[in-house]
Amino acid sequence: MPAPQPPLIVTAAEAAALLPLPEQAAEAPLALPEAPARSIAPVADAPTAGFLIGIAGQDRLGRELRIESEAFLQHVHVLGPTGRDKTTQICNLYLEAARLGLGAAYIEPKGDAVDDVLQRIPPERADDVVLLDLGNELHPPALNLLACAPGDEDVHVQALVGIFARLFDRFWGPRSEDILRSALATLLANHDPQLPTPTLADVLALLTDPAEKARRPVSDPVALAQFWRQWRALSDSQREQALAPLANKLRAFLGRRALRNVLCQEGAPDFERILAERKLLLVALPARTLGDAADLVGSVIVYRLWQTAQRLGPDPDRPPFLCLVDEAHRFCRLPQGLAQALAEARGYRLGFVLAHQHLAQLTDADLAAAIHANTQTKLCFALPPQDARRMEAHFLPRLDENDLRRLGRYRLACRISDEGRQLPAATAVAYPLPLPTRANPAERIRAAARGRALTVTEVEAALTERYGRPDPGDGGGSAAPDAGPPSGPPSTPPPEGGPRRRPSGHGRAGFGRSEKSDKDELNPDEDEPRAAA
Ligand SMILES: Nc1ncnc2c1ncn2[C@@H]1O[C@H](COP(=O)(O)OP(=O)(O)OP(=O)(O)O)[C@@H](O)[C@H]1O
Ligand SMILES: [Mg+2]
Repeated sequence: MPAPQPPLIVTAAEAAALLPLPEQAAEAPLALPEAPARSIAPVADAPTAGFLIGIAGQDRLGRELRIESEAFLQHVHVLGPTGRDKTTQICNLYLEAARLGLGAAYIEPKGDAVDDVLQRIPPERADDVVLLDLGNELHPPALNLLACAPGDEDVHVQALVGIFARLFDRFWGPRSEDILRSALATLLANHDPQLPTPTLADVLALLTDPAEKARRPVSDPVALAQFWRQWRALSDSQREQALAPLANKLRAFLGRRALRNVLCQEGAPDFERILAERKLLLVALPARTLGDAADLVGSVIVYRLWQTAQRLGPDPDRPPFLCLVDEAHRFCRLPQGLAQALAEARGYRLGFVLAHQHLAQLTDADLAAAIHANTQTKLCFALPPQDARRMEAHFLPRLDENDLRRLGRYRLACRISDEGRQLPAATAVAYPLPLPTRANPAERIRAAARGRALTVTEVEAALTERYGRPDPGDGGGSAAPDAGPPSGPPSTPPPEGGPRRRPSGHGRAGFGRSEKSDKDELNPDEDEPRAAA
């Protein structure tokens, strides 16, 4: 029997000497994996009906997480870095709206999710889809940004000017604003029903072609008549200087052939019908076709939906209509800011779902504050540290900043609004897109959209007939306004109206980047244009 050993009592220093750690290992950082985010189940009284968001629990065995359709009227903010599931989530919400018989609009910024969605539309809703694929250059859809409901002309003019101002931000000045407002008001408020509906191309034509102006006399003796008197009093070079900053921006849109074929058609979707009859509007704004102009087009569509909801008026019995905006920081430049729309849209039964990648994208302070304060449902995927810190307050005490950072792939943290209150935070695994429906309706829907549109040849022939003008470079020169043959814009060719002359340099506006602001060009007295050199 071994003799009993007394316990060995040593100091920390002696223990360290007796049990030396390998020196190399001690210097290396411990390679422990970060703990994943906590997995938090939804509260017991979380909704069990409505839009399916995901499933609680890691292994898809937990409870389904849902949002009631009424909760969308208090708006949803979807935030997460690239490749996390935002677009998939938006597509799923759109498909859920279709399944539940609701109306929805999806502003899709890349064009590549359109087919994913179309292939999964429930067959019984296929006829409700209104597809506006601005990437379809062979059958360009008609989207006249100047089209508006009768009686809304003044408001629409202000709205378009406001959207331009937000879009170009510090590259937009008071002189361009005055010129654009006056031209739009002349085209819209004084519109003669005998004339074709004006389009964006008419703005430059009106400002540069006296014959065109002569066709559109103004009835407003105060503001408009005065503007035109001053405009006529300018010399050619003065007009050129005043118009240049606005003309550059408009030509950035109109110089793109594919975009011009969409924007310069007379027609536009019937937004009133889309909202009232719960249609499924799907708008593809691929950068390949539109470039930066997508921001203008998307913002005008979001605005038109909001304007139309207001027009239809508050009606508590109308089912919610969802406006799903991917890359929302680009497409929500509403004239009075988004805050007003988010605050009031609930009454008009319009719910916004706004998705983007990170908070720094919300450079417009109004937009950032509006989204932060007025979206009652928050869906966050693994966030970068800064965003996790800023979003933490919405998820405490159940989830903190660390949890928001460490959500695994396709896992989301949800703070869901239900019956006017915010439920405690929960986590869930998002669903991928469902399988395509058996009777895949994509081709049928695309064929219907093609059937409603003109072919590119027809569109371009109509544009040539309407906007084609003799080339002033052939010796036409410039004439005094209202006195002589039409002249082009002083220094540059007139807006391209048709295929006769393909756009040479389409001069991207490069919002906020390269365009020189008309503010930069103003004299101290900005209404007194400098004489041309
Ligand atoms: N819940 C999911 N389960 C499995 N795969 C998914 C899930 N959600 C998305 N995916 C896949 O992950 C990829 C990226 O998803 P998605 O396009 O939705 O990301 P995103 O957040 O919109 O990215 P970006 O910010 O770049 O647009 C896609 O290929 C998609 O099929
Ligand atoms: Mg995406």
